[in-house]
Amino acid sequence: MNSVISEAGSPARGELSFLWAKDHMGILKKITEKVLNGQPLAGRRLGFCLHITKETSVLLMAAKELGADIVACPANPLTTQDDIASFLSEKGVTIYAWRGQTDKEFRECLNKVIQFKPEIVTDDGAELHVLANNIRCQSILGGTEETTTGVTRLRSLQGKKSLLYPVIGVNDASTKYLFDNRYGTGQSTIDGLMRATGVFLAGKHVIVCGYGWVGKGVASRASGMGAIVTVTEIDHIRALEASMDGFAVKRLLDVVESGDIFITCTGQTKVIRKEHFQKMKQGAILANAGHFDVEIDVEYLYKQDSNPVCIRANVNSFKIASKKIFLVDRGRVVNLVSGEGHAPEVMSLSFANQLLSILFLSKFHAKLKKRLHRVPRHIDRAIARYSIESMNIRIDKLTNEQKAYRHFI
Ligand SMILES: NC(=O)c1ccc[n+]([C@@H]2O[C@H](COP(=O)([O-])OP(=O)(O)OC[C@H]3O[C@@H](n4cnc5c(N)ncnc54)[C@H](O)[C@@H]3O)[C@@H](O)[C@H]2O)c1
Repeated sequence: MNSVISEAGSPARGELSFLWAKDHMGILKKITEKVLNGQPLAGRRLGFCLHITKETSVLLMAAKELGADIVACPANPLTTQDDIASFLSEKGVTIYAWRGQTDKEFRECLNKVIQFKPEIVTDDGAELHVLANNIRCQSILGGTEETTTGVTRLRSLQGKKSLLYPVIGVNDASTKYLFDNRYGTGQSTIDGLMRATGVFLAGKHVIVCGYGWVGKGVASRASGMGAIVTVTEIDHIRALEASMDGFAVKRLLDVVESGDIFITCTGQTKVIRKEHFQKMKQGAILANAGHFDVEIDVEYLYKQDSNPVCIRANVNSFKIASKKIFLVDRGRVVNLVSGEGHAPEVMSLSFANQLLSILFLSKFHAKLKKRLHRVPRHIDRAIARYSIESMNIRIDKLTNEQKAYRHFI
């Protein structure tokens, strides 16, 4: 394995980014400074497998401030911001992360987190949870999961055999998926695509595959930039939603010939594959916003052209028959590889859910069944309240007459 921290990325620059993010993550600041006085996580060993971004550094430093002993590794080999990894290391976080890890190095770093004997593990994509469950890691008292794909994997694991410890599916809190998945990914996916390609979006035909929370955000933001958006779906309700939101809804094979840009947002595998590549027009651009790099059949592209031309830092040009097809970020999460991930304001909501769920597990793990749990409703509601307050928005309250009216029969 390489050195723990890459030479690139200075801790001083990382600290500036951390401070910038912290200033925009009011809820986390409020939780650590006002709501939770003292060190409720004193001595707790926390293991994190998250994208190592400036927003993640705010979560890790908050947990540290609350007394935790921390180890971290990345949730993706290509998404680490090296200056942030250096900064965290300098602040006493044990971190095994650098940008551009091989798959082997990525796995070794997951193992390092397990070797630390964490008591609570926080994951994004369930790689750490699956590993911990497979090797029956005994130190873990509870865990949390950040994303839809991770929750799906845990649900499947729970169906096959019981989980080794209780896991809170943070993704499924209203204050997570409604904002992070939709508005966060919506903005950062367009940002990542623009940084990678510099392409002009207005008037382009953008095909968004999947109209879940991520797809809704991406479709709405692409449309806001003037793109003509078509949605593809496999679920009738979501297809209906897309249609009533004003988007054309088509089968991918029926629309593939006219697409300029394709963005996958499904959590599924090989959504764009051989039959689609064959019908695509010259110059089509492919990007993925889903968790894993399986949504675009990248393997097929490499079989057709094993030596694609790297035309920009994160864009490869493949020769398929007589056409060029452009793949962004090797099919990995475009908003985190070419962009910086979600803006701090939206990660504030997700990571407030993470921090409060970690505190909840630390206190109540022994009372929880070893299965997937939702974020407790009171936590979800409190985060919405803090967030609204920190935005200086005031909302109405029910009058006594209105409270009584709710019980009107
Ligand atoms: N890039 C990021 O920062 C980020 C943030 C949040 C979530 N995610 C990931 O994005 C993915 C989607 O998350 P979500 O919360 O929107 O999930 P979701 O379950 O709400 O939506 C996925 C949608 O894709 C549709 N779908 C599945 N297979 C399809 C296919 N073959 N063709 C067309 N549509 C198909 C489903 O019917 C569903 O509507 C997951 O992998 C999730 O982990 C990424």
